Amino acid sequence: MTLPPRLLEIVNRFGRDTDPGIHRLRERLQVWCNGTDQIEFERRWTELVEQALTRPHWIAALFPQACAEFPNLLPLIRSLDNARDLPDQRARGANENLNTWVIEQGDVSLSDGLMGRLLDDLQYGHPHEGPAFLFLSRYYAYLDLLQAYLVADALRPLHERIFAILHLQRNQWPQSYCNGYLYQGWEALGLAGIKPTDARLGAYNITPLLSPSDRVLDVGANSGFLALAVGRHVAHVDAVELNPFLVEIGRSAADFLGQKNVRFTIADIESWRPDTIYDAVFSLANHCTIDGRMSMDFENYVARLFSLIKPGGWLFFESHNVFGPGTGAPGDDGDLDAKFDIIERYFECVDSTMHRSFVPAHDIDKLFVKLRRRPTYLADAVRTFSLAKAITRYRSLPGRP
Ligand SMILES: C[S@@+](CC[C@H](N)C(=O)[O-])C[C@H]1O[C@@H](n2cnc3c(N)ncnc32)[C@H](O)[C@@H]1O
Repeated sequence: MTLPPRLLEIVNRFGRDTDPGIHRLRERLQVWCNGTDQIEFERRWTELVEQALTRPHWIAALFPQACAEFPNLLPLIRSLDNARDLPDQRARGANENLNTWVIEQGDVSLSDGLMGRLLDDLQYGHPHEGPAFLFLSRYYAYLDLLQAYLVADALRPLHERIFAILHLQRNQWPQSYCNGYLYQGWEALGLAGIKPTDARLGAYNITPLLSPSDRVLDVGANSGFLALAVGRHVAHVDAVELNPFLVEIGRSAADFLGQKNVRFTIADIESWRPDTIYDAVFSLANHCTIDGRMSMDFENYVARLFSLIKPGGWLFFESHNVFGPGTGAPGDDGDLDAKFDIIERYFECVDSTMHRSFVPAHDIDKLFVKLRRRPTYLADAVRTFSLAKAITRYRSLPGRP
């Protein structure tokens, strides 16, 4: 099989139909599959392969097993890459060595070269196989690379920066999510992520509830893509996130977009002190995080959110695993009825819906709840939410497990 059909087959496996960037990528690959514009394809493909095989952040993202198997691989690439900037004989030598390396490892007809093995893995590998998110982190990073190098040149500097930051995170931040790849993606940036922001906001139908004068808080804002997308509909967003690498990604995206109404703060939500109260707060999968960095118990967390929202303001709440055993462990929301006994004393439950995860493995379907802050704490509030009913309603929908 020649290369464009092979790439198209890979993109068609789990590329999302809801993503306009993926549509453009498919269309362009289809043109190349038809034999048109081959010189253009070859030029772009050569640039892509050179980038993927000579930048430490792409090597680490796309070839984690090779990095583990050959611990010298990354230091070698890094030193050759650095030496290219030297204005002397050594730079020429480094360039020649890198060129040889790229030609050898980039030849996709060789099944033992890095690029050939990667394409085989992505074309035939199973997303459930191996450690959690190993396949998916490589698959979606590769789709991001294809978008920037085959279709959307303007995204290249941003993608390079974001994957370089992810590489630093991988080495310096314990317990990063999704095998070190992006938890949040954003279609507007050609980044798939495990949770695509526009598709997620669309499924949750949140933006009609926001108004242009609103001030919004996103708790545990991750890479800030959701905060930036929400910022397009409101006056101001505070994005509070503990992980400095993710905040740097959010700030880079804001700079790239020229968007100024999202304020990124590196802070623990427990000790962070706001200078305002909000019309709406997002608490998406953040009340007990599986990285173990959310130290507040559930009632203190809810009381904190109550203190941050105006009376009548919105709390947008996303669960963790509602199918869990309900032991109260991080990530287990099988005890959501008990949690809602608490939450409904502070907030009135307006609507709750279950949603499919956006990836074919490892992530779980989530419950999304819209709540309104009560004027005052209501000690004898009776719970209206029922997890059993939410799950039954969900399972009765066509195509649900
Ligand atoms: C499961 S992710 C959810 C991210 C985001 N809310 C979303 O749904 O897209 C949890 C996030 O909370 C952050 N986090 C964990 N503990 C935190 C804390 N105490 N204060 C602020 N952020 C925290 C993590 O770094 C991570 O980005």
